[in-house]
Amino acid sequence: MLLGAAILLMALAACSGNSESERSDPERGASIYAANCQTCHGEAATGQQASPSTPTRGPEGHSWHHADGQLVQIIFGRLQFPGRTMPSFEGKLSEKEVLDVLAYLKSNWPTEQRQFQAEASENWLILQETNQ
Ligand code: HEC
Repeated sequence: MLLGAAILLMALAACSGNSESERSDPERGASIYAANCQTCHGEAATGQQASPSTPTRGPEGHSWHHADGQLVQIIFGRLQFPGRTMPSFEGKLSEKEVLDVLAYLKSNWPTEQRQFQAEASENWLILQETNQ
């Protein structure tokens, strides 16, 4: 039983790592970001030219505090919070396109932020799995 759970967790971890890096295309993400996000969030690399009171996307931003699963939910408007003004991209972008954008955003983060966020993303997946 325990061994089964351990194998499941290992399979999940392997799955999240591989499938994302194989599937996501940061270059495609860059053009999706430019067309859909940049007017509000500013340049992804520097966070410059963001609209007032909009979180920026560069290494100074805090998106790396969120797991992939959470970021996808924020972008699709499934995670609501009081005072939210960001439009939902549900039905406008596919999940694959959102993952491409995330891959592009990550390419602008320093290694420590990427490592922290990769770990948070794995924990999030395991949590989702154990909550079902
Ligand atoms: C019309 C302006 C606007 C557009 C377009 C927009 N956002 Fe946002 N976004 C915001 C604002 C403002 C917030 C802060 C929360 C709020 O007030 O809704 C936010 C918050 C976020 C957050 C959570 C905070 C953070 O820093 O992690 C993420 C992630 C995010 N946006 C990603 C995106 C992505 C990816 C796109 C393009 C697909 C996008 N946004 C398009 C305005 C926008």
